[in-house]
Amino acid sequence: MPPRPLIIDCDPGVDDAIALLLAFASPAEFDLLGITTVAGNVPLALTAANARRICHLAQRTDVPVYAGCPRPLLRSLVTAEDIHGSTGLGEGWLPEPTMPLQPQHAVAFLIEQLTTAAAPITLATLGPLTNLAVALIQCPAIAGGIDQVVMMGGSLGPGNVTPAAEFNLYVDPHAAKVVVEAGLPLTMLGLDVTHQVLTTPDRLAALENLGTPVGKAAAKLLRPYGQSECDSRSDPSRNRHSLAAPPLHDPCVIAYLLRPDLFTGRPMRLAVETEGTLCLGRTVANAYPSPTTPANATVIETADAEGIYALLTERLGKL
Ligand code: RIB
Ligand code: CA
Repeated sequence: MPPRPLIIDCDPGVDDAIALLLAFASPAEFDLLGITTVAGNVPLALTAANARRICHLAQRTDVPVYAGCPRPLLRSLVTAEDIHGSTGLGEGWLPEPTMPLQPQHAVAFLIEQLTTAAAPITLATLGPLTNLAVALIQCPAIAGGIDQVVMMGGSLGPGNVTPAAEFNLYVDPHAAKVVVEAGLPLTMLGLDVTHQVLTTPDRLAALENLGTPVGKAAAKLLRPYGQSECDSRSDPSRNRHSLAAPPLHDPCVIAYLLRPDLFTGRPMRLAVETEGTLCLGRTVANAYPSPTTPANATVIETADAEGIYALLTERLGKL
């Protein structure tokens, strides 16, 4: 199989960073065309810098990084420094990037790539969907250049930023509605599945015991993130979950593209709540699609956490 053309849209963010490292460590499977960044976990200037910090860490400064939308379509930006640290990658121990940010806007890059692609492109979205939504509104024809969209976002169960909503879709529910209703081949990895993929001490140690700069950096990023991600002490106003260990969200998207056999899911008809307050950003799924309410997404429901961490550790050991 030739490497699949891939664009990663993200808001690094610690788990985004681990997802980027996993993609960088899989050159046989991915032709990584570019990384587009969006405001989310931290403001855009930081997500755009952090993506480049991770390119440096992986020695992949050949991959172009683009800055996208600095705020959601309609709402004011909500960030998550309480989870990801003030810089978005902990407290700023990774060096400033020296690779340039591309001058082209991320939305223009998406449109250019998706309207001129020789082969359909896979989009991995790891943050709020603002960039993709704006690209779809500006140029609906990009749909013809998309092989599939694999999204970390949503939850059929409880949320993680409110009782009802997962962070990525809560930040920009209107963008999520545009994407979900665009008729794209969409796969959703929500909290239902990422909360099965926990960074236990043994799994963290396995990354650290790689003994490589990347392995040590991954463990260093995940350790404080883990504590805040699963501990309600970080921000009692946020709806936190009392998981036994911190969930690993974004790398599940890359793991799914590498090893879909580690996951199971079902076709469902998804909708995103964009009204009200209590349920703003919630994903609502009809698990019984019909000819009158056809499925518009594959919703992933189970994950083989042990297999995912074995894949992650094995691949990061190659960087
Ligand atoms: O809810 C988890 C998601 O929100 C992850 O993508 C994390 O990086 C944040 O963006
Ligand atoms: Ca993210």
